[in-house]
Amino acid sequence: MKVKSWLVAGAMTLAAVAQAQEMSDEAIKERIKPVGSVNIGGNDAQGAAAGGGGGGTRSGEAVYNNACVACHGAGVLGAPKHQVAADWQPRLDERGFDMLLQNAINGYNAMPPRGTCGDCSDDEIKAAIEYMMEGI
Ligand code: HEC
Repeated sequence: MKVKSWLVAGAMTLAAVAQAQEMSDEAIKERIKPVGSVNIGGNDAQGAAAGGGGGGTRSGEAVYNNACVACHGAGVLGAPKHQVAADWQPRLDERGFDMLLQNAINGYNAMPPRGTCGDCSDDEIKAAIEYMMEGI
């Protein structure tokens, strides 16, 4: 996904921050377009790589690697980092898991709706969050 490559490349610059907003908006527009090129439970490479199996549900790990790692891997824009308890615990304490899930689905400050994964179901977003919090 192109979001990933530019984000990683430019993560440390202010320009990247500006770009992040732009890309998020683009991603949102992309999301509300009618389904076309989106993979819905097919047997294509994405589904296979995700190991989702029947129904096309991707694992939390697959969703994370596809859509969330760009920001949550290194903490871009202040994103809570993958499996870093110090980043996640205060959020859990303050809001509880369900609220974090709602914020991930609807968007929250610099966190874009569904983390730019327009074709992710609520369950897939939930699985990705659980993967990011594994062991916390
Ligand atoms: C463009 C960067 C970006 C991407 C991509 C992204 N996030 Fe985030 N996310 C953020 C930022 C920044 C925050 C912190 C927002 C804040 O606290 O102000 C955040 C916060 C969160 C939170 C905590 C919300 C809360 O209420 O504290 C969850 C949960 C989350 N993201 C899930 C995900 C998931 C799941 C994905 C992938 C499907 C994803 N994010 C992809 C940037 C991103």
